[in-house]
Order: sequence, then structure tokens, then C-alpha cells
Amino acid sequence: MLHLAIIMDGNGRWANAQNKPRHYGHKEGAKKIKEILQGCLELGVTHLSLYAFSTENWKRPKSEVDFLMKLLERYLKSEKATYIENKIAFKSIGDLSMFSNKLQRLIYELEEETKEGAKLTQYLALNYGAKDEIIRTFNKLNANALSFSEENIKSHLDNPQDVDILIRTGGDYRLSNFLLWQCAYAELFFTKTLWPDFSKEELEKIIQEFHNRERRFGGLN
Ligand code: FPP
Repeated sequence: MLHLAIIMDGNGRWANAQNKPRHYGHKEGAKKIKEILQGCLELGVTHLSLYAFSTENWKRPKSEVDFLMKLLERYLKSEKATYIENKIAFKSIGDLSMFSNKLQRLIYELEEETKEGAKLTQYLALNYGAKDEIIRTFNKLNANALSFSEENIKSHLDNPQDVDILIRTGGDYRLSNFLLWQCAYAELFFTKTLWPDFSKEELEKIIQEFHNRERRFGGLN
């Protein structure tokens, strides 16, 4: 098991650096996912979590939010074959109730069609915030009269997998409300590379460094 989580930051700056509008950066950012999925399959990653849209991203200008929604719709349609052919299970995490019915339907369809026999499970965070996920988890436990044990909390989170490696591209040193529970013992990697410039090669270097780091999980030696 190897769970990699990525905060895909820097699309806007990447586009601005070439005098292009921000949405061009998002478009290239979405394309980059394909290369990284391939890298994950080759490098033994079993779970990949990608931060595509946070609970805070609604604060962006309406035109940018609308563009991201359209891009997501196109992505779900055009990449369906990639998921099916490569046996990648697609799962969304986050509160989908804010999305259009059409988008919700596309998301559920892709989840249904890819749920069997996966080599890699890819979580896409959509209207996701870790605090929101944790609150929704406690409400689920409460509604089912379940105790707040670590095991119950873990199994009721949108994403029940502990993160091994967290990468943030784009040069900032923040977790930005991504997988806070699951990252309790994650090894953190921050790179200045802007997301559209990230590559399979850089991913491979990070995974190699991860294997060289000693993880003690609070113990000694
Ligand atoms: C950060 O760039 C990126 C996001 C807001 C979300 C990531 C989105 C994508 C990779 C594309 C959409 C994905 C799918 C699956 C359709 P930023 O805008 O914060 O960049 P900046 O920090 O340079 O402004």
C-alpha cells in the first residue's frame, strides 16, 4: 500500500508567466493528471488523492469557478477510457451536493464503472475541505449511535486511507485543509515546480527519497 496525496498548486502563475489567462493553466493542469496517473501505475502507488477543488475555491471569481466546472465535466467524459483501460478506480471525496445534477451524475457514473479490480484507486477532492470531512464524519457517527473511536472515525471518512506521501507543488508550505486526519504521519514534500510543469521524473525522485526516509511513527530507532 502506498498512498500519495497531491496539492496541485500553481496553474494560475504558470499561465501568467506566459502571458496567458489563468484558465489556460487549469487546462494544462488537468492534462498533467494523465501523466501522473501513469507514473503512479509504474511506481507502485496504490492510492492517489488529488486536490481539485476546495470548499474555499468558491470564493474565486465566478468566471474561474464556471471554467473549472466545465473543465471537470470535460475531464470526466474524456478520461473515462483512461480509467477503464488502466483499471484505475475513480472515487470522489468532498461534499458533492453543491455541484450541478449533471456533474454529480457524471461523477457517480465514473465511480460505478471503475469500481472493480483496481490496481490504483484515485480520489478526486471536489468541494473538499478536511474540516468539513471531519464534521460530516462525526455527524454520521452520531446519527448511527457509533462511538468516536479512531477505527470508527477512519472508516467513516470520505477517504479512509492514511497518507504516506504528501506533495505540494507551487512553492507554498501549507496543507490548505487537505486530508488533515489522514496526513497525521505523512512524509511532506514541497516543490517550487508549478503543477503544469510537474513530471513523472520528479515524482519518481520524491518516491525514491520517501523510501530513504526513516519513518518512526512516534517510536524510537
Ligand atoms: C491551483 O492552481 C489549482 C486549483 C485551484 C485546482 C487544481 C485544478 C486542476 C489541476 C485542474 C482541474 C482538474 C480537473 C480534474 C478538471 P491555482 O489557481 O491556485 O494557481 P496559482 O496559485 O498559481 O494561482
